[in-house]
Amino acid sequence: MKTLYRNGFIYTSSGFKRADFGVIDGIIRFSCLDDSFYDSVIDINNKYVIPGLADVHVHLREPGFSYKETIRSGTMAAAKGGYTLVASMPNLKPVPSNLENLNVQLDIIKKDALIDVIPYGTITDNQSGRGELSKMAEMQDYVIGFTDDGKGVQSKELMKEAMLEAKKLNKPIVAHCEDESLINGGYIHEGEYALQHGHAGISSKSEWIDVQRDIELAKQTGVQYHICHVSTKESVALIREAKKKGLRVTAETAPHYLTLCDEDLREDGYFKMNPPIRSKEDRAALIEGIKDGTIEVIATDHAPHSKEEKSKGLKGSSFGIVGLETAFSIMYTKLVLKGVITLEELVKLMSVNPRKIFNLKEIYIEDGYSADFTVIDLEKEYVIDSEKFVSMGKATPFNGEKVKSEIMRTVYQGNTVFSID
Ligand code: DOR
Repeated sequence: MKTLYRNGFIYTSSGFKRADFGVIDGIIRFSCLDDSFYDSVIDINNKYVIPGLADVHVHLREPGFSYKETIRSGTMAAAKGGYTLVASMPNLKPVPSNLENLNVQLDIIKKDALIDVIPYGTITDNQSGRGELSKMAEMQDYVIGFTDDGKGVQSKELMKEAMLEAKKLNKPIVAHCEDESLINGGYIHEGEYALQHGHAGISSKSEWIDVQRDIELAKQTGVQYHICHVSTKESVALIREAKKKGLRVTAETAPHYLTLCDEDLREDGYFKMNPPIRSKEDRAALIEGIKDGTIEVIATDHAPHSKEEKSKGLKGSSFGIVGLETAFSIMYTKLVLKGVITLEELVKLMSVNPRKIFNLKEIYIEDGYSADFTVIDLEKEYVIDSEKFVSMGKATPFNGEKVKSEIMRTVYQGNTVFSID
């Protein structure tokens, strides 16, 4: 199959430029750009073409929880959001803590995934952050790294053991930082809003105390250490210091932490996730973090739940919101258009950096690269309506938000996996 794309404004390793390009057997080619050579010609109409987005933090819910999301529906949502690669979190049933269990997920991925899906294996054998380590060695060839996401590893000794094993296997430890002894029934940020509305708060310390512990352990063990969904200013400061010392420490945050604060909370499960949306000062520190390179990745933490599970207000709803179908537009509208970061920087945060950090195939719109790309109309305005999501999860604090920029087409290995028409 040969397709010629005319009139793109394409992202290359040296910035955006206007160009036509061919896709031949799934590979980008610039050598032969004659219409007659191709099976079809698509006019991109001067829209932007960027490398397929990569999200290293997604919950696809299968196997085990297909009433919330499936690998098919989750990857459809990802394709619609401009992603060609996602890494799937392991809070599943069976838990991918050994190769036999992991194979259940790999079989569904093979059958149903529309784009690259690379699973995580767990750190502990039941993804509880306690007890015995998982069978990391037998899973190493099939996983992007090891995490107990959804749960923090509760003891220093166990985390050190995990890091030593991961270091041996040359795989990253990816940490959900949460000290459960400091949670005390909290479910939103411990701050002004919680105080005024009588809610139980989650302290910032429950996150940063583990970030601090793990950075020290990463230094001792030499493991590659990546921190999930950073939400507090104290964590940002700790990561900045670790990087200054040259440690192998990286971090991600998510669109909701970069754009919302606890003043924006409503009495609605659509505003509930873990870690919680924090204070204005935390948000400012996170923005500073993505600007100065302390935080190199924007991930979504796409965490779909059923309508029922998200309908019980801030206290009773499940933790987690969806993000795959809104992340790019929200970040473009609220960061790029406001002059906080450039479009090139956003592409790095959402595509280039995660691929580099996790040692995944690099993607540029350049000769010889896999044709995994996204076409975006940066002028298009629309209002987010979560009932129109293809994800089975509908809960997002951005519902009703007016945004600019829309994904027009997503191409994965040369095939269109999403198109607006
Ligand atoms: O809000 C969250 N939801 N945070 C997590 O860490 C887990 C996730 C989920 O699996 O629903």
